[in-house]
Order: sequence, then C-alpha cells, then structure tokens
Amino acid sequence: MDKIIIEGGRPLTGEVRVSGAKNAALPIMAASLLTEGWNTFSNIPDLMDIRTTRKLLQSLGVVIEGTSGTVRLNASEISNIEASYDLVKTMRASILVLGPLVARLGIARVSLPGGCAIGARPVNLHIKALQEMGAEVALTDGYVEARAKRLKGAPIYFDIPTVGGTENIMMAATLADGVTLLKNAAREPEIVNLAEVLNGMGARISGAGTDEIRIEGVERLHSVEAEVIPDRIEAGTYMIAAGITGGDIRVMDCNPIHLCALVEKLRDAGMIVEPVDGGVRAAGNGKIRSVDIKTLPHPGFPTDLQAQMMSMMAVAEGLSVITETVFENRFMHVGELMRMGADIHIQGHSAIVKGVSALKGAPVMATDLRASASLILAALAARGTTELSRVYHLDRGYQDIEKKFSALGAGIRRVSGSS
Ligand code: EPU
Repeated sequence: MDKIIIEGGRPLTGEVRVSGAKNAALPIMAASLLTEGWNTFSNIPDLMDIRTTRKLLQSLGVVIEGTSGTVRLNASEISNIEASYDLVKTMRASILVLGPLVARLGIARVSLPGGCAIGARPVNLHIKALQEMGAEVALTDGYVEARAKRLKGAPIYFDIPTVGGTENIMMAATLADGVTLLKNAAREPEIVNLAEVLNGMGARISGAGTDEIRIEGVERLHSVEAEVIPDRIEAGTYMIAAGITGGDIRVMDCNPIHLCALVEKLRDAGMIVEPVDGGVRAAGNGKIRSVDIKTLPHPGFPTDLQAQMMSMMAVAEGLSVITETVFENRFMHVGELMRMGADIHIQGHSAIVKGVSALKGAPVMATDLRASASLILAALAARGTTELSRVYHLDRGYQDIEKKFSALGAGIRRVSGSS
C-alpha cells in the first residue's frame, strides 16, 4: 500500500486550483439514470469514488465515455436494476441510484451500505420517503428492494436534514405523479447543483438551497450538458493549510459563498481571508488564535472540515472546543493527532483541544477521508517527518493532493509500499 511522507515546517505559498466537487459529481452522475440519450458533465474530478460510480453505473447498463474532466453518460438501456454489495460496500453514495432507478423503471435492488468509520449512517429516511411516495419496500438478504408502478408525489418531512436522502428523493420525485414537497431538506450547495442539472433535464424543482424543496413530477426527462461545482471541502482544506503553516495561498476556482462558516472561523483565528479574482486568498501569520467549532448541516460549519480544523487548533494559542453534531463517531483522527504531540481530550461529542507550541512528525494512519486530510495538515506544520499510511482513503476524495501541496512548496511525496 502507498504511503505519503511529509517533511513539515515549511510555510506554503502560491496558487492551487480546486477540482470539481466529489459530493456533487456522485449524485449528478446517478441522475443520468433518469434520462435516455447522452448527458455531458464537465469538471468531474479524478477520484477513486468517481471510478467506483462509473463501475456501478456501467454494471446497470449505462454507457460511459471518459473518466474525469468531461464525462458522457448514456442510460438509454438499463439492463440491470441491482447495485451489488461489492460496489456499495466500497462507497456508501451508491445508495443514490435507488431513487432514480425506482422512478425510471419501477424497481430497484440496492445493497444496504452498513456502517462506516464515522458512524452507523443508516438510510432509513431514504426508505421512509420512498414508502410515502407509494413504493413497496422490502429488506431481504442485506438488500433494499423498492417497487412502484409510478411513484406518487407526497409531502415528505425529514427528521434530520439528510444530504443523500434529499438528493435521492429529489431525483425520484422528478418522474413521480404529482407534487412532492420536501420539508427540513438539506441545503448544501451540492443539492443546488443537482437541482440545476435536473431542471436542465426538464424537471420542475424550486426551492433547492432552502429547507423546503418543491418538485412537480413530469412524464420524462431529457439529456443535458452541465458543470459540477468546485469542491468546497477541498478548497477549505487548502485554506486551512495556509493558516496552519503560516503561509499565503490563493485558492482558485472556488466559490467563497459556499464556505461562509469556515471563512468566519479562519478570520476569528487571526487569518486573512479575502476574495481575489476567481477565488480566495488565505494567509496566516504563524500565530493562530483558538476558536470553538460546532458542526452543523449547511450553512453551519461542515462536518467534512472538522478534522482539518482540529489540526489547526492543535497548534493554536489557547483552548478550543470542537463539537461534532452530524456524525456520532467522527473523532478517529484524535488518537493519531495525539501521537504527533497534540493535547486533546474527548468529552462526549466534543473534543477539548489545548494548543501546543509545535507538533512532531510521527508514523500515523489514516482512518477515513477527512481524517487523512487532517493528518496531512498536521504533518505540514509539524517538526520532522511524518509517514502517513492507508492513503487510499485520501484518493477517494482529494485529486492530486501531494502534487498540489508540492507545488505550494511542501516537502511531500508518495512512496509505493508492499504493506
Ligand atoms: N441519517 C439518518 N438516516 C438517514 C440518512 C441520514 O439517520 O436515512 C443521519 C446520518 O447518520 C448522519 C446525518 O443523518 O448522522 C446526516 O447524514 P447525511 O445523510 O446528510 O450524510 P450523507 O448523505 O450520507 C453526505 C456526504 C458526506 C458528508 C455528509 C454531511 C456525500 C456522498 N457524502 O453524506 O461526505 O459528511 O453528507 O454533510 O455527499 C465526505 O465527503 O467525506 C463525506 C463523508
């Protein structure tokens, strides 16, 4: 297995370009299942999760040209309605084919994702909503099987604003009979991107980006050309890199409006964050003030940047309380950060982080995608050498991470290993 070796202690400077958003590209590629003809999507990132989505869609009969950048998908002939355990177990977002398949074909069989490193992550809200739209749902042999001659529009209330649930049901509702009203819907920018793509296909969706989304079902959708938004989590990770290394980075091709909660916290922590043409400049001065963080659904502070922010707080002046409210088990990085000299105590859903003057390089292990990014950030600021193993987690969500950091002046390289 590959490892990433980082020599820390260099302030990062220069310009980095953000790739397309993984979490927008995945549902948008799944949306191609709703149409016949060639869909063309641009700004698709080059990531492991995208390759898994390609495999999944191809297993259903979708014809795909291209792997990243501009990708064309044609779902005119769907030959299989089953998303197998082998594919779903490597990527939970595979559940996003459930809504489109039932809506288009009246039947779908998708393996249940099961838990993962950051929590149990059930899909009960996706299933309940489909049932409320008239689908018959059976759970057998670890698979969820949904059937409906034609889904019926319905009022749906989500107990929790679920990103995947909102996307799945929004896609399903585009072809339903009548109006679906999603209440307490998730408001993430990726949902707005998906709604725009669906409307480009002829769907009638309004309210995406608010907590109430109205979808008026239509008989059929047509293919579309659309662009994936920039990855706000990747952008945020590079902005934090500027702070933690006392550097000065221009993060290009990103939309600062998607990052309001982070920008506010970085400024509170003493960083300069200002818009520049085509992106954002983020700069630190080597001194970081501690700030408290509470993760929340958008527009609150994103859980996907909690681990990275914790690395920065580990070297801040003072005490920071970081509270995770979205996932129940998203502190797996804490033990690894402590191996690098961080002073962190977990109390329930909060981590109490007491800033230390410097972290020290150490061998550490990635446990999930964002935890891996937090360890890279910590290593970039640390004295000495850090060896990060299990980097396959990173490859799921950060395109060319070591190349991008290297171009900013980091001492970072990937080595192939056998263990
Ligand atoms: N939840 C339920 N029941 C459901 C669905 C969700 O209880 O049926 C709970 C979850 O267990 C969690 C909360 O609701 O506690 C929010 O989960 P959500 O459904 O919003 O998450 P998701 O759709 O599974 C997406 C992103 C995650 C990101 C979360 C939260 C994709 C492919 N994944 O997951 O991204 O953390 O929203 O913003 O869009 C990542 O990129 O590293 C990542 C984990």
